[in-house]
Order: sequence, then structure tokens, then C-alpha cells
Amino acid sequence: MKDLLQADRECIWHPYTQHKIAPDPSPIVRAKGAYLYDAKGVGRFDATSSWWCNLHGHCHPYLIEKISQQLGILDHIQFGDLTHEGAVSLAQRVLSHFPSVFTKVFYSDNGSTAVEVALKIAVQYANLQGTPKTKFLAFRNGYHGDTVGAMSVSDSPFLSHFRPLLFETLYVEPPLRGSGDKSLRQLEAILDVYGKEIAAFIFEPLVQGAAGMQMQDAGILDQLLSLCKSHGIVCIADEVMTGFGRTGKFFACDYLEEKPDLVCLSKGLTGGLLPLSMTVCSQRIYEGFLSDNPAHAFLHGHTYMGNPIACAAAHASLDLLESSSCLAAIEAISRSHLDFMAALPGDPYPLRNVRSQGTILAMEMAAPTPSGYFNSLGQDLREYFAERKILLRPLGNSLFILPPYCTTPEDLAPVYQGLLDLRQEARWTLN
Ligand SMILES: Cc1ncc(COP(=O)(O)O)c(C=O)c1O
Repeated sequence: MKDLLQADRECIWHPYTQHKIAPDPSPIVRAKGAYLYDAKGVGRFDATSSWWCNLHGHCHPYLIEKISQQLGILDHIQFGDLTHEGAVSLAQRVLSHFPSVFTKVFYSDNGSTAVEVALKIAVQYANLQGTPKTKFLAFRNGYHGDTVGAMSVSDSPFLSHFRPLLFETLYVEPPLRGSGDKSLRQLEAILDVYGKEIAAFIFEPLVQGAAGMQMQDAGILDQLLSLCKSHGIVCIADEVMTGFGRTGKFFACDYLEEKPDLVCLSKGLTGGLLPLSMTVCSQRIYEGFLSDNPAHAFLHGHTYMGNPIACAAAHASLDLLESSSCLAAIEAISRSHLDFMAALPGDPYPLRNVRSQGTILAMEMAAPTPSGYFNSLGQDLREYFAERKILLRPLGNSLFILPPYCTTPEDLAPVYQGLLDLRQEARWTLN
């Protein structure tokens, strides 16, 4: 075979990549625990859990064993008029982590489709109630995926070429920590005018991931939800990134008093091994679809929904996640981030707005050009950490780490040191 990178250049189109100017990707030949290895055996710490999905480390023997067992029993079947034990017991198991108003799970196979499903359920629910609604409400700078519906309710830098295709969404500022009740006032004004036309409010609870791990005030978020619910608006929590312990509790919604009607889950659902997602639904919404008319059914599906091997991975991941040692590991990582922040000087320039929520640590780098996804500091920072054998993928000048839960203090120490050293090196200061 040709040199891998040459072959890659010839036949692969990578995501979010301007191939005319982007550096080559890094070939990885194997992975173990929190490390990814190249052909020379050099390991890099996976500080962002392979796009925020890996929970227990790579090639975990328990997950491998459970998936291998499943492969010899049942591989894949259509989910339309068939069912299987793994999908049913996984739905029961995930539902057991939710309040009892949640009773149903609709499977799909990635975060974007979990969001599409939720948006379509909300629209059809309104139709079936005899009150058609087609507008959505979402947070400024939110990200919910790259399919057209998910893009329509997003407000990310990825939308510019597609805006004419997107349906109408109204935006409210997210209740970022320290921003007071500005978003509440904005929401009141929006609801006064459009309250009756809005099918659903979709939000990333507590942490807006792709916006650069922006963290919210749970109390204000609660009030926003309460206001939406009082206007009959279906509330959709997009927990694709925040679910399964990431924010310190099992789900980010566990920090809220008000509960959503639909919850989107993916990424960590299988421990980050296989694609699978769920849209978790309240009994109230589900009942809205029950009718003697077959056309009132939710006419939506995906080939790989409820895939038995992915369900086996999810069960195995939950076996680990529900254990006291994993919960302790999540707590230890969270505490370690807090200790790092506490030890920083009053003005840790060029680090700005250093913050954490559970296992997520985030900050901005002071930048000479506008902050944001296209800020060129992102690539420089990526290379700086790669030299230190740490895989980070900053979003522009937003730096963040969210490591797998198998991460030890020894794994984290070089990451913290790398962040501290940014303060010493002249190339990172603006002068
Ligand atoms: C909050 C949120 N929703 C949805 C998605 C889309 O998930 P996927 O990439 O699996 O389609 C992402 C992906 O990062 C996400 O962070």
C-alpha cells in the first residue's frame, strides 16, 4: 500500500477541513485507555475523548468482551416490526435514570438524528393536538448537529452556505454564568409575540459544547424552561454531549428542577465505541400520537436504529458507568479541574474565563483577532499540545479538555502544565 498520508490525500474528504491549506491528519494505528498510538508506538493523551464520546478509555476489555459475545448471537435486524431483548432492556435501563414522566425511547444512530427525531415529534405533536406550529426557539451559538433540521435550530459558524434551506428559528441568549437574567427578559419578549407559534425550545443543558464549552446558570435555565412550558412549548434537552456523567451528574438535566419533554442522547451512550442514539420521550407527548388512524403514527426510522451490537456496547458501558469506581473517577477529575483553577493567579493572562463543569475544563486564549471558530490560534494551539503528546482540538481560541473517565492525575498533569506554560511563552502573549 502507498504511504498512508498520500493515499488519504487521494481518496478521503475529512470533516470540517479546508483541504487546500490544512495540515495532514495524524495516522493512528491503535488505542488503549486514554492514549492513541502512532506506528512508532508514540502515545498521545486523548484529552477530548475522541470528539467527546469516549467514556471508559479505548479498547476497554470489558466492552470488547460484551460486544464480541453479542456478535455471535444477533448482529442486526430491522426495528420496524421486530424487536430484541438488548434494545428493550437498554431503553428500560436508560429510562430508570430519568423521572417517571419519561416512558418511551425512540432509537436512531447519531446525535443529529436524535435531534431530527425530537424536532419532528414536536411538530407532529402540535399538529395532532390541532394547533399546528412551525417555529422553533433555540439558544444563540447553539449546536445540534449537521443535518438540515439540526442545522436549522443551531446558530453555529457552519451554517453560512445553507441558510436559505433552514426553517425558522427564534434565538435567545443562553443564560451564561454571570450574565444575570438577560435571557429571561429576551424570552419574555419573544413569547409575547410568537408564543403560540413555537413548536419547541431546544437547548444544550448547562454546557454549550461547540460554542466553546460555554457554561450556564442552572437557576436561570430552570426559569426559561418554566416560561416555555407555561406557553405550551415542548422542551427538548440536547444531552448528546452533556449526558452520561460529563457534567458531574448522570445527566445535565439532573441539575434542573424543571424537566424537558424530550431528551436527545448519543456520543457516550455506547461508551464511545459504536454509533447509537435515543430520543427519550415523556408519556404525555407519546400519547398525543395514539390514534386509530395509521397516518398519525410517527413515520420516521433509520436502518441501524436499535442495532443489537451497539445496544450491547451501551449496556456494557452502563455497567461500568453505574459502578461506584466510575462515579468516583468522574468526581476525581472534576475536583482536579477545580484544584487547577484554584491554583491559578488572579489574572492568568493569556488564559481568560477559565471555568469548569464536572469533567469539562474550558477557557479562552486572549487573541489578537476576533474570538471564534475560525480564529487561527486553534491550529497553533493544537500543534503546541501535539508536541507535548496531548491531543486537543480547540474551537478557535477556545481551549477545553474533557478526558475519558479512566484518566489519572498523572495523565492530567502534563495537560495542566501545558496550559500553565502558555503563560510563560512569549509567542502566546499579545504584546
Ligand atoms: C450538543 C450536540 N448535539 C448534537 C450533536 C451531533 O451529534 P453527531 O455528530 O453524532 O451527529 C453534537 C455533536 O457534537 C452535539 O455536541
